[in-house]
Amino acid sequence: MITKITSDLVYLGQDDDRIARFENVYPVPRGVSYNSYLLLDGKTVLFDTVDRSAAEPFFRDLREALGERALDCVVVHHMEPDHAGTLEALLRQYPETKVVLTQKALQMFGQFFPLDIAQRAQVVKEGSTLCFGRHTLRFVTAPMVHWPEVMVSFDETDGILFSADAFGTFGSLHGRLYADQYGFEAELLPEMRRYYANIVGKYGAPVQTLLRKAAGLPVKMICPLHGPIWREGLDRLTEKYDRWSRYEPEGDAVVIYTGSVYGHTDAAARALADELNALGVTDVRLYDTAGTDLSLLVAEAFRAGTLVFAAATYNNGIFTPMETLLADLKAHDLQGRRYALIENGSWAPNSGKLMEECLSSMKRMTRRGEILTLRSAMKPEQLAELKALAQALRADE
Ligand code: FEO
Repeated sequence: MITKITSDLVYLGQDDDRIARFENVYPVPRGVSYNSYLLLDGKTVLFDTVDRSAAEPFFRDLREALGERALDCVVVHHMEPDHAGTLEALLRQYPETKVVLTQKALQMFGQFFPLDIAQRAQVVKEGSTLCFGRHTLRFVTAPMVHWPEVMVSFDETDGILFSADAFGTFGSLHGRLYADQYGFEAELLPEMRRYYANIVGKYGAPVQTLLRKAAGLPVKMICPLHGPIWREGLDRLTEKYDRWSRYEPEGDAVVIYTGSVYGHTDAAARALADELNALGVTDVRLYDTAGTDLSLLVAEAFRAGTLVFAAATYNNGIFTPMETLLADLKAHDLQGRRYALIENGSWAPNSGKLMEECLSSMKRMTRRGEILTLRSAMKPEQLAELKALAQALRADE
């Protein structure tokens, strides 16, 4: 898609509506966009390429956008193949084009591709600047947002931050190029959060470093590598990123995860949700870990301040979908949450102890209440225990 952003900056990104799972793991029912931008200054500068699946329309759009002009330079912000998958093909088609990238990105290029670009590479570092005519670009390294070779660049002339994966969102654009053309809470935020938590969530400290660097720049527009361009509401966007990267919840929500074989554990979890509701805690959501995609479960853990894990014992361990969720939350370095536990076991309940071991090994996690142990099904006489658990969660609001 070729769309003018400013008088000399063109959007060249491509929607991918055929992809089922981004990175072969995260469902993207509304697709994903691979964003690329072309600056038509004294020199022509391409910012990143696209995934190989979109190579054909991308090269066609690039040729059309360049017209009679040569491609002088490509800036590589990130070497992950969703952005650099067509980079080697580009450099073969445009043999005079120079490549601006970090030293680590140059090394990664050699890992991915056989083409030798040593003579064409212009390695930049933190604070390097390049002038292309009217525009001067400043390069800012952003290691681990989301790979170690990542940099972002800032167009000092127009105040545009090319932010690589940062501030990205799942979802194709279908011509709606700007974030202000979407409903923030209902349309953008859930997929922004799912993207952030799963793709970048592990790297809170590097994101904080990037936010500090960006705060020192007069940014008027953010052009990420996925999802819409931000020309309004930058404070709202950066507030979310700041919160998520500090692992601070967005509010007082309680998320209850269930891992139930025949429904008895699930029934107890639903009874807890009812008790919480009766106590005035209204933002309670319950997810079946066996039937909900892991990426949504992880995103919800980044949103909510209180998490309840209710799981059956299975093969003397934790019911597998719950075990997977806990491992993924730990892998994403989730921290600073209150949690409560419900375990079930018909002859040797053990999931509570194992869930506790996992959660207590994570940072700043605090358990509330006692572990509620079910033996096959919750008994009426356990209602007092359940109410006490709800009260313990509420008391920490
Ligand atoms: Fe969109 Fe880390 O690649």
